[in-house]
Amino acid sequence: MVGERHGYISYLGVYPTHRKLGIAKKLMTAAEKALVQEYGSEYVFLHVGRSSVAAISLFTEKLGYQTQKTAAEFYDNGEDAQVMRKQLQPKQAGRQVTIETATMVGQTRKFQENNYN
Ligand SMILES: CC(C)(COP(=O)(O)OP(=O)(O)OC[C@H]1O[C@@H](n2cnc3c(N)ncnc32)[C@H](O)[C@@H]1OP(=O)(O)O)[C@@H](O)C(=O)NCCC(=O)NCCS
Repeated sequence: MVGERHGYISYLGVYPTHRKLGIAKKLMTAAEKALVQEYGSEYVFLHVGRSSVAAISLFTEKLGYQTQKTAAEFYDNGEDAQVMRKQLQPKQAGRQVTIETATMVGQTRKFQENNYN
């Protein structure tokens, strides 16, 4: 929509051995803060697979995201996605800007294990 600055979280992942330590919540909180302070984003949205129970719990119960709609067969394997959105600050006049943010932890270790670096 014209006139709305917003961010988009393209992927959130924490390496399996480091889950349930609060890392994803901290990453999301930091990304949301940066979207407001650095880019003036009014809201942020994301897609999450319907089977991603942990992520859905994080987004809805801990971070205040609301489900907007279902995107049918959004993923290559045919899984539907839920489109979720969180208002970060009141609406402001201005042109549309989309900031894409990917937050990942543990990839360095994964790359090392695969001798990619
Ligand atoms: C979803 C994911 C990023 C969570 O990372 P994490 O660092 O373990 O999450 P946190 O420790 O910050 O957990 C915060 C909250 O998320 C929810 N949560 C996390 N893991 C959960 C699980 N296995 N089952 C249910 N809820 C869970 C809880 O509400 C939790 O709060 P609590 O610890 O007070 O119960 C991680 O499980 C992951 O990488 N999953 C695979 C990738 C994925 O599905 N990404 C989402 C696609 S966008």
